[in-house]
Amino acid sequence: MPNHSHWQPLLDAARAVMKNAHAPYSNFRVGCALRTTDGQIFIGCNVENASYGMTNCAERTAVFSAVAQLGSGMEIAEIAVACEQDVPCAPCGACRQVIYEFGPKAVVYFQGAKGWNAMPITDLLPEGFRLK
Ligand code: THU
Repeated sequence: MPNHSHWQPLLDAARAVMKNAHAPYSNFRVGCALRTTDGQIFIGCNVENASYGMTNCAERTAVFSAVAQLGSGMEIAEIAVACEQDVPCAPCGACRQVIYEFGPKAVVYFQGAKGWNAMPITDLLPEGFRLK
């Protein structure tokens, strides 16, 4: 049984940033908050576009914001995702690969089909791609 209270601050931050989502097409607002290995918190929301494929998920917004602030050495320790409807919202496949790039040991907190999970990114994305 994971210690869910541990996740409360990140979950609160993820829920708070949902209000900034730009989601006029899906009306599905998503928020994300991550903690780096050195303890800094970054947030992100989904940003949609009239050209639908240009949409950026909340998770990637948070990760890219952290990279912009800290540089490419930034490492994700923990990352939480929340959505407005409080329905299951696991990170999409593209975001899993982006999280893996900057957090191969990251733990992801999200609501799955059977409730909230704290899951290593390597469980969500087995055999993540690395250019090495
Ligand atoms: N979305 C996210 O931001 N994160 C997820 O984990 C799943 C989907 C967004 C993308 C789009 O703006 C909306 O949710 C509906 O797909």
